[in-house]
Amino acid sequence: MRFTFTSALLAAVTLALHAKAQSIIGFSGDSCNGSQGDSVACNGACIDFSGRHSFEVFGSAANVVLFSGGGCSGEAFNFGTEQPNNCINVNTGTTINSFQCT
Ligand SMILES: *[C@@H]1O[C@H](CO)[C@@H](O)[C@H](O)[C@H]1NC(C)=O
Repeated sequence: MRFTFTSALLAAVTLALHAKAQSIIGFSGDSCNGSQGDSVACNGACIDFSGRHSFEVFGSAANVVLFSGGGCSGEAFNFGTEQPNNCINVNTGTTINSFQCT
C-alpha cells in the first residue's frame, strides 16, 4: 500500500515537472480580487470565463485570447502575450464568456 502510494506520488510529481509551467486563474473582480476561479493549464483548451473580469497568468508568459460567446465562439479579443504575475483587467466593453490560453 505504502509502495503504491509513493509510486503514484512520484508519477504525479514527474508529470507536473514535465507539464507546461503556465497556468491561468480568472477572478470576478476587476483587480484579480473577488471570487477566484480554478487554476487551469494553458494547454489551448477552451475555458469558461463567465462572471469573470480579470485574470492572472502564472509560471511563464502565455498567449491569451478571450471570446464574447461560450465555447470560444463569437467575437475574439486577442490579448497577446501576457507576462506571469500581472493582473489583467478584462475591459472589452462586451461580456466575455470563454477564453483560450496557450
Ligand atoms: C476589487 O478591487 C477594486 C479596486 O480596488 C474594487 O473597486 C472592487 O470593488 C473590488 N472587487 C471586488 C469584487 O472585491
